[in-house]
Parts: sequence; C-alpha cells; structure tokens
Amino acid sequence: MKRFTTLDIMARKNAEPLVVLTAYNTPQARLLDAHVDILLVGDSLGMVLYGMDSTLAVTTDMMIAHGSAVVRGSAQALVVVDLPFGSYQASPTQACKTATRILAKTSCNAVKLEGGVEMAETVAFLTARGIPVMGHIGLKPQSVNAMGGYRTQGKNEIEVASIFADAKAIEQAGAFAIVIEGVVEEVAKNLTSNLTIPTIGIGASPACDGQVLVTEDMLGLSGDYIPRFVKRYADLAKATEAAVKQY
Ligand code: KIV
Repeated sequence: MKRFTTLDIMARKNAEPLVVLTAYNTPQARLLDAHVDILLVGDSLGMVLYGMDSTLAVTTDMMIAHGSAVVRGSAQALVVVDLPFGSYQASPTQACKTATRILAKTSCNAVKLEGGVEMAETVAFLTARGIPVMGHIGLKPQSVNAMGGYRTQGKNEIEVASIFADAKAIEQAGAFAIVIEGVVEEVAKNLTSNLTIPTIGIGASPACDGQVLVTEDMLGLSGDYIPRFVKRYADLAKATEAAVKQY
C-alpha cells in the first residue's frame, strides 16, 4: 500500500474534504489508518494521555516515541508529528535540528508547528531544506499564556487582520496545509477561499477543506469536558467501564 504524500494532500484543495484524526500509538493508528488521509501525532497527547493541564511540558522525546509508534501502525495515511513547545521557537536552526531529528527517528512524513508571521522565516527555512511543514494558526494552544486562555479567535477586526496575515505568511513560506483552530466561521470561510493550500479546521466550522479532531474526544474517551464543537460518535468510556465491571 502506498502512503499519501503531501502532494496528494495539496491536490485536495477545493475537492473531497480531508479527513484528519489524531493518533498517539500503534493499535490506534492500525484502527484509523484506512479511514483517514492524515494521522496527526499532536502534542495534545500531553493532555489526553498524560493528564497534563496544557501542552507546554511535552518534550521532543515524547513526540519521537509516539510518532514512531504511529508510523509503525500505519501504511496509508500521511503521518504528521507536532514540534513541541520550546523545541523550535528560538531560531530556524533550532527548528531544523528538532524537525530533522523527529523525521529521522520516527520516519514520519511531515511536521506541524504553531505560529504565523513570526514563524514564517522558520517555515521557509525548513521547507527549503526538504522538510514538509503543516502550519497551525488561530487558537494556538502552545501560546495559551499569551492568548489569555483557550478562546475563540477572530472576534474583532484586529484579530481577523492578524489571522489573515498569519495564514498568508505561512502559505508563502511553503507550508503544504494549514490547521485553523478556534476561529469564527466567517474567518474560516474567507481563509479557505483566499488560500491556495488546504485549510484543516478544528472548532472552525465546516467551511474548511478538511477537519481534524482529537480521536479520544470523538470516541468519548476524554472525560467529562469536551469542546462544544466536538460531535461524539461513540461512548467508549461507558463501554470500557461496562466491560471491566463484567470481568
Ligand atoms: O495537538 C493536536 O492534537 C493538534 C490538533 C488538535 C490540531 O494540534
């Protein structure tokens, strides 16, 4: 079976919607692989798997361990691994060192990093050196302290202008796709029609070229709190409890 490439993903602009889910381990990747275009090894694993209260303490070694596991469990989906907080923001050289280490150790296909205008130089540095990059703008969980919490972005003209500048800068820097998180529908719609690369929304309305969800959220495995935009497709927590009780 041939794995999807970043070119296959780019060809899905204004075409069949992209299906993206997070995956953190081998059995999960095996279950999801045939049904998605991209498996995202998100740094959300810090919160979902390790019970951290943000993604800030996730390390590159954690991303390598989980990224390798997901690559081992998949054959078709493009595997994208997040660059964790503190592993790329200092300089393009630092980002390149982290990204090359992750690509070499996991055999993943691309990396994702959060940021807009301020990260464009870094994205250009990586893409010029053969490292495929997925962007991530709007609500950026690694900037939770600077953003004053996890709140929807694009609610006023200043925020809208800055999200547009971010998206354009990351596109021009060579990203093959861009995650748009937590922005109002109108902004997601305008971004999607103004960019030439696919937009992948999370909490950004259906008006994107694809959608990404945290798998545990849609399967009912992430506790009582689930973001308001998440549709629960199963209640696996309940099913697990019932099975264990029976045992
Ligand atoms: O870390 C993550 O899982 C992500 C997605 C939620 C987009 O960045």
